[in-house]
Amino acid sequence: MKYGYFDDRNREYVITQPDTPLPWINYLGCQAYFGIISNTAGGYSFYRDARLRRISRYRYNNAPFDLGGRYIYLRDDETNEFWSPSWQPTQSDIVEYTCRHGMGYTTIGSSYKGIEAHTRYFVPLDENLEIWQLSVTNHRNTRATLKGFASIEFCLWDAQDDATNFQRNFSTGQVEVEDGVVYHKTEYRERRNHFAYFGCSAPSRFDTQREAFLGRYRGWDKPKTVEAGELTNSIAYGWSPIGAHQVNIELDPEETAQFVFVLGYHENPVEKKFDPPGSQIVNKRTVKPVLAKYLNPAGADAAFEKLRQYWENTLGIFQVNTPDAHTNRMVNIWNAYQCMATFNMSRSASFYESGIGRGLGFRDSNQDLLGFVHMVPSRARERILDLAATQLPTGGAYHQYQPLTKRGNNDIGGGFNDDPHWLIVGVSAYLKETGDWSILDEPVQYDNEPGSEKPLYEHLQRSFHYTLERLGPHGLPLIGRADWNDCLNLNCFSDTPGQSFQTTTNKEGKVAESVFIAGLFVYAGRELAAIADRRGLKDEAALYRSEAGKMEGVINEHGWDGDWFLRAYDDFGAKIGSKECEEGRVFIESNGFCALAGIGLEDGKALKAMNAMRDHLATPHGIVVQQPAYSRYYLQLGEISSYPPGYKENAGIFCHVNPWVMIGETRLGRGDAAFDYYTRINPSAREEISDLHRCEPYVYAQMIAGKDAPTFGEAKNSWLTGTAAWNYYAISQWILGIRTSLDGLEIAPVIPQKWPGFTAKRRFRGVAYSITIQRKGPGNSISLTVDGEPVTGSVVPIPTDGRKDVKVTGILS
Ligand code: BGC
Ligand code: NOJ
Repeated sequence: MKYGYFDDRNREYVITQPDTPLPWINYLGCQAYFGIISNTAGGYSFYRDARLRRISRYRYNNAPFDLGGRYIYLRDDETNEFWSPSWQPTQSDIVEYTCRHGMGYTTIGSSYKGIEAHTRYFVPLDENLEIWQLSVTNHRNTRATLKGFASIEFCLWDAQDDATNFQRNFSTGQVEVEDGVVYHKTEYRERRNHFAYFGCSAPSRFDTQREAFLGRYRGWDKPKTVEAGELTNSIAYGWSPIGAHQVNIELDPEETAQFVFVLGYHENPVEKKFDPPGSQIVNKRTVKPVLAKYLNPAGADAAFEKLRQYWENTLGIFQVNTPDAHTNRMVNIWNAYQCMATFNMSRSASFYESGIGRGLGFRDSNQDLLGFVHMVPSRARERILDLAATQLPTGGAYHQYQPLTKRGNNDIGGGFNDDPHWLIVGVSAYLKETGDWSILDEPVQYDNEPGSEKPLYEHLQRSFHYTLERLGPHGLPLIGRADWNDCLNLNCFSDTPGQSFQTTTNKEGKVAESVFIAGLFVYAGRELAAIADRRGLKDEAALYRSEAGKMEGVINEHGWDGDWFLRAYDDFGAKIGSKECEEGRVFIESNGFCALAGIGLEDGKALKAMNAMRDHLATPHGIVVQQPAYSRYYLQLGEISSYPPGYKENAGIFCHVNPWVMIGETRLGRGDAAFDYYTRINPSAREEISDLHRCEPYVYAQMIAGKDAPTFGEAKNSWLTGTAAWNYYAISQWILGIRTSLDGLEIAPVIPQKWPGFTAKRRFRGVAYSITIQRKGPGNSISLTVDGEPVTGSVVPIPTDGRKDVKVTGILS
C-alpha cells in the first residue's frame, strides 16, 4: 500500500494519509540553520550543531517519535472546536490532508468543516531562520470567525544538557517580548551571545511559559488556551520557555488570509549584547530588519523563489532520462537531495540519530563526498580541509568531530584502521570533479594543533603509510577497533554490559586483520598513485603502485577462500568469512570492495566472488551483510553478534554496501545484474510495499531487515547513511557510467541489455555536456562522437577552445 505519490514535475513527494507507518520527514535549511520536519509537523531546529545549538526541543524516544513540533492550531469561535491542519497533535477528523515534502521545504495542510489551511515551512538561503507561511481559506457560505495559534518549545541550547539537567534548567529560562516578538534568551546574561526569536506578522496575544499555554496535566493535543480561545500573555521565569502566538481571523466566504511566523537564531557581537549598554535587555537592532523583511508575505515569497532556483540549479548539474522512472526520479531529485542532507548532517540529526550523539564522521563524510562533490564543490573543499585537520600525526584519524568546534571527538578517539584511506578516496573524488589541484597544497593542521600545518598532500601520504606501518601476521592490514563494519570488533572482547564496542579494546590489536582494509588500501593506493603521477612524482607513484600490487598478492594468498574473498582474521588468527566457519561464512564487504577495486578481475576471482554474492547473500530486498547470521554472541567478534539475526550488521541488508557489489558487477560487464541490485533497494521502486518497508519511499534507509529477521524487508534508519552517496555514485558513475576522471568526463555505461539507451545532461568543470547513449549491440564497448567528431577511448577531452556546450553521442555495441 502507498501513502502518497511522487510529483516529479514539482520535485515533491505528496503524502495523502497522515498516519504513515513511521514519521516521514524532510530537512529544512542547507547552510547553517537546519530543521527536521515530519509529515505531521513534528521535529526540531538547530543552528549548525544539533547538539550544541539546539533551537527547539525534542523529546527523545517518544511515542510517536516525532513529538515536539512546529504546531499550528485553528479554532472556530462559533463552535469552540479546535484542530491542527497538520493532523498532529490534535488528531482531529480533518479531510484532504496533504503533506508536500519538496526541496528544502514542506507544505502541510488539510480542510476541516469548510476551512482549508496550509502551512509552508522553509529556511531562506543565507539566513538563520525558518519561515512558516500559513494560509487559511473559508470555503463555507457564511463568514468565519477563527483564531489561529502557532507554537514552538525552545530548547535551552545544549540538547544533551537540556534533556537531563533539570535541577538547573528549570531555573534558568528567560524570555523577552517586544513588539509582539518572543525572544528566547536563556544564558544570554552570561556566556552566550546568541538568542532565538519567534515573530508573527499579525500578533495579538502570546504565551511564553509552557504550562500557561498547555495548562496543567495537558499535552500538545489539547492546550488549555487553544481550547479557551485566548492566550494569556505569560512570561516564562524558568521552567520551559515557549513561543506561542495568537492571530485573529475573520474570513468572508472564499476569502483567504495569510500569516507569517518566523523562528530564528541571532548572534550579537559580545560587546554589543545589550541595549542600552549596561542593561540586561537583548540588543535587537540587527535582528529587527531581518524580522521585518520576512514577516512581510512578499519578502517570504521572494525568499521561497530564491530557494526554488537554488535547487533547480543544484540538481540541474546532473539530470538523466532513462527508460526507468525510479532511476530518473532518484538520480534527478531524491537521491541527489539525500546526498545534500548527508553532506549537511553527516550522521548527526534524524529521527534515528538523536543529534546529541555522533557529530561528523571521518569515514562517513569522506564517502559522502562521492555523492555531493559535484553539487557543492567549494563547500566540499572546505569539508575536506576540516576533515583532514582532525587527522592525527600518525596518519590515523579521529573517528568523529563536532561541526561547531570542528575538533575531534575525544570520547571516541581514533584507531579505526580504514579511516585514513577514505580521505584519499574523498580527495580523489574532489580532484576528478573539479580539477582543482591547488587543494593539495593547502596547509592543514594535524589534530587541530596550531603549528602542525602540512600540505594536504602530505596528509594523504600519511594515510597510505598508516596501513603499511600496521600490518598483521599475514601481511594484511590490522583492523584496529573496526574497519567499515563498526561492529566487527576483533580486539574488543567485551563481557561487561554498557561498554562501548567501538572504544573498548581489551586486546593488543597485533593479530586481527581485515581483508576489507586490504582491498581499500589497494584501491586508495592506486588513486594516490594517479595523483602522484600528475604531480610529477614518478618514484612515489611507483611506490604506491608496487605496494598496492604487493597487497593484491597478499589478498590472493591469504585473503581468498576458494570461492570468495575472506573477511578477516580474528585475534586468534582464525578466519572470518570462510567455508571453515560455522556462521558468518561469506561476507559482502571484502567481496564487494575487492571487485570494485578491480582485484581478481583478470584471474576470475572477482567473477566467482560476485557469483557468491548472488548465490549466498542476495535476497529480493537486497544483499545481506553475511551468511549464516550469527545466532549467538561471539566474544571475539564483538557488536556484530550482539544483534539478533537479520538486523543491522548481523546479516541485515546494509544498503550502503550493496553498491559495491553493483559496481563490482559493472566491472564484470554485467549490467543486468548491477541494475537489478540497484532496483531491489531503490526506495521509489519499493513504494508499493510501504507497509512492509515503512520508511520514506523517497530516500534510502541505512538498512533493510535481512532474511533471518522476522520482519524481513522492513527498512530502518532512513536519511543519514552512506547509502545515499554510494547508490548515487553506483548508478550515475558506474551503471550509467558518466564518470569523473582526472582527465575529463568518462562515458562508460554498463546498462541493462534491454535498454535502448538514455540521455543525460552533466555540467562538469564549467562545460555543459549533452549526452546521448544508444544501444546498437549487446555489449558495453562504446564509440564516442564529440560534437560530431569521433573520439578514441571513453574519455571526453576537456575542450581547449572555450566551448561551453558539448554534445556527446555514445554507441554501445
Ligand atoms: C551501529 C553501527 C554504527 C556504530 C557506530 C553501531 O551500534 O550498529 O551501524 O556504525 O554503532 O556508532
Ligand atoms: C554506520 C556508520 O556511520 C558507518 O561509518 C559504518 O561504516 C556503518 N554503520 C557500518 O557499521
